[in-house]
Formats: sequence, C-alpha cells, structure tokens
Amino acid sequence: MRTQISKNENSKGAVQANATHGLRDLFEVGLKDIYWAEKVLTKTLPKMMKNASSPELVNSLKNQLSETKEHVSRLEKIFEVTGVEATAIKCEAMGGILKETNSLIRQTDIGVVRDAGIIAADQKVKHYEIATYGTLHAFAKTLGEDKVASLLAMSLDEEKRTDAALTGIALNAINSQAHRADAITNT
Ligand SMILES: [Fe+2]
Repeated sequence: MRTQISKNENSKGAVQANATHGLRDLFEVGLKDIYWAEKVLTKTLPKMMKNASSPELVNSLKNQLSETKEHVSRLEKIFEVTGVEATAIKCEAMGGILKETNSLIRQTDIGVVRDAGIIAADQKVKHYEIATYGTLHAFAKTLGEDKVASLLAMSLDEEKRTDAALTGIALNAINSQAHRADAITNT
C-alpha cells in the first residue's frame, strides 16, 4: 500500500495541500489501492486458470474469480457508505506480483511445475490482500466505521480461507508431483 499519492508531490518531493495527512486519508488511499488490485485480479485469474492443469487448482481459481468479483462489489458498497469516490489507484505492489506471475508462466511448461508456481504466486496475492484488508479493517474500527469494518472483515476472512485452501492443494499433491517431475527431468 502506498502511504502517499505521488501526484501530490511536486518535482522537489514537497507534499502539496491534498496529500495524505491523517488516518482517514490513509484509509481512503488503501481502499482505492485494493480496489485497483481486485479489479485487475478479475482479469488475471482467468489467465492463471487457463495455465493451470490440476482440476483442484482450476476449481480454486474459478471460485476465486467469483469471490474477487464479490470483493469488487463489496468495495463499491464501502465507497457508497463512506462517500469516498470509487476510483482505483494503481497498486504497485500487486502490479509487481502479477508481473512476476506472468514471467513464471512464460518460464515453465504446462503441468505440475507450472501449477506449483501458480500456487506460489497466488499465495503472494492472497497474503498481500490479507495484509491490506487486515489494516483497513483496523483503520475502520479506529475511525468508528463499524459497518465498513464488518464488510472488510468478510473479505479478510474469505482471503484467509482461500490461502489455507491453496496450502492444502499444494501440500496434498502438487508440490510432491512437481518434485518428482524435477527428479525425472534431471536423470
Ligand atoms: Fe479479494
């Protein structure tokens, strides 16, 4: 999450009048940041799905796509409740993770090894979302935005459940199959 919007700085880095000053500003920037991330994920998940082989992983990515669309709508509801303008601010962190995901897909052949890589990338996405929703939930509580806090808690819980499910898929089969494929390739 960015703590300051770069367009609010002049060429010498001096912060101008509409910069991030308080907790509410940080909260609003955080909402716009995760809004960008969730929206981009609705476009990236189908690509990950197309590149996955394991039926369990494909199924998880499919569920994540509908969950992510729900998270976008929930954020729009939060914008409505708080009166914050529903605009997305590019999240550089999520952009970086997704760039890494794309190169990982390019560097691997379709199969278990690519699946293991997709899970690794997807879990980085989930952990970023967990950190962001956790922070925004705490901010909302402090700001007395209880309704918003409970909406954010719903998304936070869903991200945590998805992360745990991905760990299960990796540990149950994919990592050991990928390791075996590795051993075969190296003999
Ligand atoms: Fe999400």
